[in-house]
Amino acid sequence: MAVILVTGANRGIGLEFTRQFAARGDRVIATAREPEAARELRALAAAHPGAIEIHALDVVDGASVASLARALAGRGVDVLINNSGVYGPDRQSTVDMDFDAFAEILAVNTIAPLRVTQALLANVRAARGKIVAISSRVSLFAEAGSDDIAYRVSKTALNRVFQALAKDLMPEGLPVLMLTPGWVRTDMGGPEAPLAVDDSVRGMIAQIDALDMTRSGQLRSMRGELLPW
Ligand SMILES: NC(=O)c1ccc[n+]([C@@H]2O[C@H](COP(=O)([O-])OP(=O)(O)OC[C@H]3O[C@@H](n4cnc5c(N)ncnc54)[C@H](OP(=O)(O)O)[C@@H]3O)[C@@H](O)[C@H]2O)c1
Repeated sequence: MAVILVTGANRGIGLEFTRQFAARGDRVIATAREPEAARELRALAAAHPGAIEIHALDVVDGASVASLARALAGRGVDVLINNSGVYGPDRQSTVDMDFDAFAEILAVNTIAPLRVTQALLANVRAARGKIVAISSRVSLFAEAGSDDIAYRVSKTALNRVFQALAKDLMPEGLPVLMLTPGWVRTDMGGPEAPLAVDDSVRGMIAQIDALDMTRSGQLRSMRGELLPW
């Protein structure tokens, strides 16, 4: 039984990670901004007594991150999954940018995953665990679309930060992986997305299981393709 911590576990991909890890017998520390409003997650926890514990976490709030770290002090985390993310508004063009939204997107998608990871590094070290960040294929330089540029660059920068984290943790033998889920039917992906959330998460869990130091610092798709930056 591994201990898995998932951010943004109340809906979408985070909720499905929680469901699949709990179903196979792992213990999930499922975090959500508003646990009391997380009805589906609470129902899932009730259906798996003792397997899912729910903690409050707003990933951009330093006090909230510190409070979670205090609550988990001394416990090992085998897999830390930085899943929380925002897409932002339509107005994200280089010629017409909502700059407040741009700052928020960077705060949630780029800065917060590192803040959460640093705060919980002692827990990952205690378990000799793994660190995962959920990125996106639109982060790639080869995917040179200019639409939704704030979201795109937030994930490009996430890749770069976690590539550096992988390097910094290499001497300790702690692997770090960036994963792209595909275009998935969630609130973010929308109803037109081709991929069901359970298929995406099943693929990503296979990649997490396969993660070792030879793969640390890589960006891989949920199907296991090694993606170029
Ligand atoms: N769906 C896709 O097609 C797709 C494709 C590529 C990458 N991704 C990435 O996959 C991840 C999950 O996406 P999704 O499709 O599941 O999105 P989603 O359905 O919109 O869910 C986003 C999750 O992030 C949480 N979140 C947002 N801001 C937060 C904050 N400040 N603190 C804590 N949690 C916060 C949300 O919590 P609240 O409910 O409180 O807002 C929610 O749980 C994201 O990183 C996303 O960028 C998704």
